[in-house]
Amino acid sequence: MVFLRLTTPALAAKAPSQIQKSAALFIMKCAKCHTIGAGDRVGPDLRGAADRHEREWLVKFIMSPGVFLASDPAAQKLLEKYNGVRMEETHLARADVEGILEYLKAASAGGLSSQAPLAVEEEPMRLKVRMPEEGFSVFWPGLAFLFLLLAAAAALWQFRGHRPAIALLFVCAALAYWTFGGRRYYHLLGNQQGYEPVQPIAFSHARHAGSLGIACLYCHYAAERSDVAAVPAVNVCMNCHGAVRKAFSAKTPSPEIAKLLAVWEKHEASIPWVRVHQLPDYVHFTHRIHVNNNIQCQECHGPVETMERVRQASALSMGWCIACHRLKTGDAPSHWKRASGPLDCAACHW
Ligand code: HEC
Ligand code: HEC
Ligand code: HEC
Ligand code: HEC
Ligand code: HEC
Ligand code: HEC
Repeated sequence: MVFLRLTTPALAAKAPSQIQKSAALFIMKCAKCHTIGAGDRVGPDLRGAADRHEREWLVKFIMSPGVFLASDPAAQKLLEKYNGVRMEETHLARADVEGILEYLKAASAGGLSSQAPLAVEEEPMRLKVRMPEEGFSVFWPGLAFLFLLLAAAAALWQFRGHRPAIALLFVCAALAYWTFGGRRYYHLLGNQQGYEPVQPIAFSHARHAGSLGIACLYCHYAAERSDVAAVPAVNVCMNCHGAVRKAFSAKTPSPEIAKLLAVWEKHEASIPWVRVHQLPDYVHFTHRIHVNNNIQCQECHGPVETMERVRQASALSMGWCIACHRLKTGDAPSHWKRASGPLDCAACHW
């Protein structure tokens, strides 16, 4: 695997296979929440963590944080400090945990410089991953082709009569429209940007998130703590619509809210909302990391609070993810906690 190159010669000389195995485990299991010397992420910076606690404490904690957090006061304090975000179950055997601790020690001591392993691997990846930018690839070929067609039209006009030339001019107009952004993006296969399906109930974000000012996370609370943002269950709507039966401006009860009440009264499991955003199955995306990094929903979903009906505002293509992950500290918006996301294939495809 590519990232095994991240160990320095000094470390590799010590115990090549074991330390590399542990480094790989760390990247797979821990690096999404922890760095070594690059600051706190979801969890604490683990530089020197192997010396902060007794070895046995660490082994038990890492092997089964859930059980341990319930009983150990020091761990509970830590949990409080991290806003109650629990470390995930790691499902590791004792030997693997001990290997990771060795790796942490070595990396903290400077054997791996002071950077987190992901950061070490990032530089070469930045140079390697190059994706076509949508939009870019149409302009120049389009323009060249347009001139070619115009020349042909002029020639036809001269030698063949007006009718075919005029037909060709229509083709030119259509091509110009497309080339100069009449269609903003050159749609790659499967690109659903702009998709705006009709929903079973005319739920309006403009009204709820816009004029009523309800926070996105009030309904999409899962976005902060899990991979998915999830659409709220009917009982979240009923917190208000138990009482609210009509729009402020209307005199009669709303038929749209009546549909909601019907679902509620029949104890149906859920409203069959039509999914708008959908990545292919082979891509792993997680909301938690992005949302906890203070990236605003709107930076990916557009101004949802102005939409009567949700529309897919971004391309959701690989190039779109990568373009943002490449942003370095100076270029990224300053409200983010950290710039640049992973570029290695395994971060998004597993
Ligand atoms: C889902 C995110 C997540 C993952 C994955 C994760 N951790 Fe954690 N870790 C946390 C959080 C949050 C805390 C602090 C709060 C707590 O106690 O739960 C923590 C605390 C720790 C601590 C205590 C640090 C200190 O400063 O006292 C150690 C050690 C640790 N994790 C090691 C690991 C190792 C090793 C792995 C991989 C096998 C791992 N963690 C995977 C989120 C995570
Ligand atoms: C607006 C910018 C932006 C966009 C768009 C974006 N990301 Fe990220 N992503 C980030 C940043 C910044 C991080 C690093 C966060 C951190 O370290 O806390 C990150 C981290 C990640 C991680 C690492 C999570 C982990 O477990 O460590 C994955 C996986 C990821 N992004 C996948 C994706 C995918 C897939 C897409 C496209 C569908 C995407 N991202 C689009 C900014 C973005
Ligand atoms: C009152 C609850 C509520 C609030 C507040 C709310 N949403 Fe929603 N959201 C929903 C419901 C219900 C759906 C599913 C129906 C739809 O697509 O309109 C949804 C759908 C979405 C979708 C599309 C999901 C898909 O299928 O891909 C996005 C994106 C979204 N919301 C983002 C936001 C953002 C951003 C905010 C804050 C500006 C927000 N929501 C505020 C209830 C809410
Ligand atoms: C880094 C970009 C990014 C950010 C920030 C982001 N989203 Fe998403 N969102 C996505 C992508 C990509 C998908 C499609 C995920 C999939 O298909 O697996 C998605 C899907 C959704 C969905 C529908 C599917 C699901 O996961 O349940 C909802 C609802 C949603 N987002 C709401 C939100 C809200 C609310 C916020 C802010 C709290 C937010 N998103 C922040 C990129 C983002
Ligand atoms: C925090 C309170 C609150 C929550 C939660 C809430 N709504 Fe509403 N909703 C309202 C209010 C207040 C109005 C009337 C606003 C107006 O007229 O401007 C309204 C209006 C509506 C309307 C429009 C009625 C019409 O005919 O114009 C629909 C449909 C609706 N809500 C559906 C939902 C659904 C579905 C959910 C759950 C996903 C939900 N609401 C969650 C407070 C809420
Ligand atoms: C930040 C996340 C991310 C990273 C890193 C990433 N990909 Fe992707 N990849 C995606 C997304 C999202 C899609 C889905 C694109 C779409 O549906 O248009 C995708 C699609 C693909 C496809 C399908 C072809 C296509 O265009 O639909 C291939 C093949 C692929 N990726 C290979 C790779 C390889 C090889 C690497 C490493 C060099 C890599 N990916 C790194 C997010 C990522």
